[in-house]
Amino acid sequence: MTSDLHDMTFKHPNDGDDQGSFGDHQAIIQGLLMESATIAPKYFYDDLGCRLFEVITTLPAYYPTRIESEIFRASATTIGAQIGEGATLIDLGAGNCEKAAGLFDALKPKRYVAVDIASDFLDGVLKGLRERYPNLVIEGHTSDFSGGLSLPSDLPQHHRLMFYPGSSIGNFTPDDAMTFLKDIRKELHLGGHLLIGVDLIKDDRLLDMAYNDPLGITAAFNRNILNHINRLIGSDFDIADFKHVAFYHREEKRIEMHLEAQRDRLIQWPKGERHFRKKERIQTEYSYKYHPDTFECMLKAAGFPIVKTYLDDRGWFSVFHAEAG
Ligand code: AVJ
Repeated sequence: MTSDLHDMTFKHPNDGDDQGSFGDHQAIIQGLLMESATIAPKYFYDDLGCRLFEVITTLPAYYPTRIESEIFRASATTIGAQIGEGATLIDLGAGNCEKAAGLFDALKPKRYVAVDIASDFLDGVLKGLRERYPNLVIEGHTSDFSGGLSLPSDLPQHHRLMFYPGSSIGNFTPDDAMTFLKDIRKELHLGGHLLIGVDLIKDDRLLDMAYNDPLGITAAFNRNILNHINRLIGSDFDIADFKHVAFYHREEKRIEMHLEAQRDRLIQWPKGERHFRKKERIQTEYSYKYHPDTFECMLKAAGFPIVKTYLDDRGWFSVFHAEAG
């Protein structure tokens, strides 16, 4: 998607333009002006970012997507039998919708609601999906969950299945993840279902490798955020000046991604600027990893008394099927 910068700058707050409402604009600048500069990970997902992320999910080093789909392949029938046909499947952070589509046969939902931040990308994906599944009611909804969970207002209350795969929950701090799980619970009636994929704590080197792939796709994904920010706020970041840095922080139990200035740089945008010293970093993503028992406890504390845990043989990734109590 291309946007005219000057048009956008004067748009009314919350006018529904996903390429930068006024609120976004202010939040981005606030993040850049913090002593430790920060850009929120939701800004990875411009059109190119969505495509780069799709490529990441196919990389040998990036095990989460592959292992998660193995777990689904092995457990989908069991899970489907517990949930029953005809659910409203609500996909939180649908992306290219392939994970959900892979479950359609086993789950036989009546209605599929794909929620994602990247509305144009999602529109294209849903077009193809409607052709492939003409009998399924398919709808899209644009939202990111940084300000809480927002769903279309006209969804059936009963027999909902919330689907939150890919360890997207890892982008929240554990406290915020707990809040988000409770928000999900509030959107479910007794007996409603949640199917959630969560990445697990493992050997540091495996984690480091998953975020430092040798082709440099993750680096491109990380650095591309600066191009997106340039379009959103009219800044003049040159991505050549910033290096991809990603590592597992063992004490914090999280992957950290940063962009590190390779030289002193003054970054300017209309009405503001920020100086970056050589080696200074912009934090772009935290991706928290869990122990399966910890996450199970969180689910129970969030109002899901019945939890089934599915792991791969090596215990690299987990899928939880939780039922609202
Ligand atoms: C979409 C947040 C699950 O943390 O693994 C992949 C994003 N960042 N490679 C993750 C991501 C770098 C991904 N999540």
